[in-house]
Amino acid sequence: APLSLREITGHTKVYGILADPIHHVKTPQMLNALMTREGRDGVMVPFHVSPEELPALVKGLKAVKSLGGFVVTVPHKTAIVDLLDEVSDSARRIGASNVVRREADGRLVGDMLDGKGFVGGLIAAGIAPQGKSVYLAGAGGAANAIAFAFVEAGVSRLTIANRTRAKAEDLAARLADAFPDAPVEIGTSDPSGHDIVVNGTSLGLKDGDPLPLDATRLSPEQVVAEVIMQPEETAILAAAKAKGCRTHPGKPMLACQLELMADFLGMRALPGAAR
Ligand code: ATR
Repeated sequence: APLSLREITGHTKVYGILADPIHHVKTPQMLNALMTREGRDGVMVPFHVSPEELPALVKGLKAVKSLGGFVVTVPHKTAIVDLLDEVSDSARRIGASNVVRREADGRLVGDMLDGKGFVGGLIAAGIAPQGKSVYLAGAGGAANAIAFAFVEAGVSRLTIANRTRAKAEDLAARLADAFPDAPVEIGTSDPSGHDIVVNGTSLGLKDGDPLPLDATRLSPEQVVAEVIMQPEETAILAAAKAKGCRTHPGKPMLACQLELMADFLGMRALPGAAR
């Protein structure tokens, strides 16, 4: 029980996480542990809020002077954007925000770190996407965030392939809107010819799921990365290993994402960090 190790006082900064459902969230444990390590007087608690009540809650949170900010997760990441006073360029382009800081004057400022966490995890593993050709399977929530982060990171080509082609086309169009020079195209299930191959679909979460792409077309010089964190070795990662590819599991993006969130929320005393 992390709270028993801590004493909440009138000085303690309060952070929230907004979700619905909320029982499964692990971010409070992880960020509370991080604040303890950093010697910060702060605590993160769950705010279970329905989509209908989100505007009222956010209005109330604006008034809470002891609030440091909050994390936003399913299903609120899109709806939150219009309720904030300011959002980062990344959050505005994607149309979603997953972390919000409360400034001293009460303004709520949002950013979107989902994709940056994934790309940061790759970079930390020595796989810098800048100038690389990337194949991305998927066009849902996770793939959207990752696609924007890859284009921001300066990939030379981003090929998006999705079961529902219209969703891939929509994502490509929004990328082209945000980045007029975005080197984006629509692909098939064949990932050959790309340096980095990413599963951004939910295929692999469940036993017996079909593969998200044609693994017979993988070759050993390719890196194959996964968004799914659990199981740690999905079927596509196993198939990629069998093909001699370097593989990158979904887990490391979590650590990177937490650090980015902590910095944005001022939970770490880093030079140049927010607040
Ligand atoms: P997430 O938040 O995990 O991204 P999502 O927004 O529901 O979840 O997106 C799920 C992604 O996995 C989508 O790209 C989806 O493809 P569709 O857009 O065609 O639905 C993909 N996906 C899920 N189940 C799939 C299946 N059985 N075959 C192929 N793609 C699948």
